[in-house]
Amino acid sequence: MFKKEDVKNKYDLKIKEYNKHNKLYYEDSLPIISDREFDKLKAEILNLEKNYTFLTNIKSPSNSVGFYPSKKFEKFKHKVQMLSLSNAFDTDDLINFEKKILNYLNKKIPLEYSVEPKIDGISASLTYLNGKLAYGVSRGDGKEGELITNNLKTIKDIPHIIKNSTIPKEIEIRGEVFIEKKDFEKLKGKFANPRNAASGTLRQKDSKETGKIPLKFIAYTFGFSSEDKFKKQSDFLKELKSWGFLISEYNKIFKSIDGLVNFHRQFEEKRFDLKYDVDGLVYKINSIQLQKRLGFTSNAPRWAIAHKFSADHAYSEVLNIDIQVGRTGALTPVAKVKPVNIGGVVVSNATLHNEDEILRKDIRIGDTVKIERAGDVIPHVIEVDLRRRKKKLNKFLFPTKCPSCGSKTEKEYNKTTKKFDAVRRCTNEGFTCEKIAIEKIKHFISKDAINIDGLGKKVVEKFWDLNLIKFPQDIYNLNYKKISSLDGWGSQSVSNLKYSIENSKKVALDKFIFSLGIRHIGIENAKIIADFIKNIRNFLNYVKNNKINQFINIDGIGETQIKSLEKFFQNRINIKVVEELIEILNVKDSNLKKNGKLKNQTFMFTGKLQNISRAEAKSLIEENSGSIVSSVNKKLDYLIIGEKPTNSKVEQAKSLGIKIITQKEWSDLLY
Ligand code: IVH
Repeated sequence: MFKKEDVKNKYDLKIKEYNKHNKLYYEDSLPIISDREFDKLKAEILNLEKNYTFLTNIKSPSNSVGFYPSKKFEKFKHKVQMLSLSNAFDTDDLINFEKKILNYLNKKIPLEYSVEPKIDGISASLTYLNGKLAYGVSRGDGKEGELITNNLKTIKDIPHIIKNSTIPKEIEIRGEVFIEKKDFEKLKGKFANPRNAASGTLRQKDSKETGKIPLKFIAYTFGFSSEDKFKKQSDFLKELKSWGFLISEYNKIFKSIDGLVNFHRQFEEKRFDLKYDVDGLVYKINSIQLQKRLGFTSNAPRWAIAHKFSADHAYSEVLNIDIQVGRTGALTPVAKVKPVNIGGVVVSNATLHNEDEILRKDIRIGDTVKIERAGDVIPHVIEVDLRRRKKKLNKFLFPTKCPSCGSKTEKEYNKTTKKFDAVRRCTNEGFTCEKIAIEKIKHFISKDAINIDGLGKKVVEKFWDLNLIKFPQDIYNLNYKKISSLDGWGSQSVSNLKYSIENSKKVALDKFIFSLGIRHIGIENAKIIADFIKNIRNFLNYVKNNKINQFINIDGIGETQIKSLEKFFQNRINIKVVEELIEILNVKDSNLKKNGKLKNQTFMFTGKLQNISRAEAKSLIEENSGSIVSSVNKKLDYLIIGEKPTNSKVEQAKSLGIKIITQKEWSDLLY
């Protein structure tokens, strides 16, 4: 049985989270989650309200559309509310939409739809008094928006004066402000997608700032009108054009759901070719008289629906196929595609996994491909749209030489499966292949390895280009004078970098072994090797006396790992790197206690710990034979809470009866 209180807490937490992201999205134009995740959160809240009718919260998304107006601008009350549209995702939703309309009208009449692209920008309202633009307003929460007339006036597509005599004395025109993809390219670093760029630019306090960015405006409907003379939405669109507005060139009329579905399919496949982002199609009952009869539900019209495009896939054209070289020499083909917006994220690269995958799917440069982007997974190519293959496209020839160092590449033969590997690799095991070397250094500094905070992947690439780093040990002998003179490096960031590099010198043996980036020696194998050899001198002893094959006695280490270690140390440069690193670093002996105090016990942290880093705390647990779990579940024995713990984790632990302890109580377990 659920507790009312728990459901309410969960509901309120979700609303708080929702409003945080709503503000980031609408007010700051800097969303930190994808549209899909945002929609999911909203749906979860609405679902809770549906299942538990006692739930109410004034800040729930069911009570508002969009976001309350910003304090930056004067508020302006819309004469006619600016509502949202309901969404349809498949044919069934559309059949249902039409059925509801016919039921409402209580008779079966043929329906005609005006179809328009749903431009992925932000809506704006323009009130014209006697043909003169008097007020320009944002949507805000639908009831009240922000008065941004001057900002809107900087948009060239918005006429300031309309001389045409057919314009009513007072009319409020609505449409979408957006930025074209080519212009977004220039602003790319600053915003996640073109819509955020448009929203951020439009709501600049200083309209001169707005004027610097080429925003566009496409008109599509009206709110208040002093005259009641429009018969059809499609005629109104023509009227808008005659008044000097831009209207979409893709507007159409359809008379059946089949027609709508077909058009939607075709449109979805060519949307990457459009000059601006479109996230679906809007279907509106064409007769304005019928629109009036149908009216509105609480936050959307009954006479219109948005048929959304998929939020996790899209079609685009392969412009090129790049071959990336990874740390272990694996050659990964990546399709460079025409940028396409998938669920709020602009995608221009999609992985093709490996050579076999290209062959199997027969992907060629110039093809139109279906790309999927789900959750945090790297976007990947699903298939080629063969109907759209231009006649003469050459088959893609996978390089047989490493594109970075020119070495021979090979596909390994797997004795167990009796098959060749799908992945082709550069045979250069070392620092003489530039791409492999850079990836090795990136791995060396990563969290589970040496863990140097202030040195990210991008910084490694930059320092590599400037010849500041060519080997991992170079990190400990950096030319700080040169770094201080670089763009973006102030004295604070240089001293932070020095500090985190200095801090990284004391390292556990297993992390050191892992940091070398040897193929097949992941964090777990590094741990068991460290446990076996106990100290770094011993490790070097095994390496130099050709005794690595004795690792076969270690439980968990097999032939694959041994071969890989041997291959790695056959390379003299690798040995030199290890020797030089040992000179600089303080590699701690392994003191993993098999029967430590925390044997068979699992731990998880939440919140900030005092006087100890997370990484160090984890090592302490592992040194004492305990283990760390990454989520609150039945397998967890202790949740250790630091400063500002995550409430949901604590609540979840409570409900599962897990012991919740403070940092002090945890130390008491250890000593
Ligand atoms: S009509 C009451 N037509 O979609 C119906 N909206 O989710 C008002 N949009 O706020 C909207 N293209 O920002 C309409 N051709 C179009 C549109 C369109 C984009 C946006 C608009 C609106 C949102 C509704």
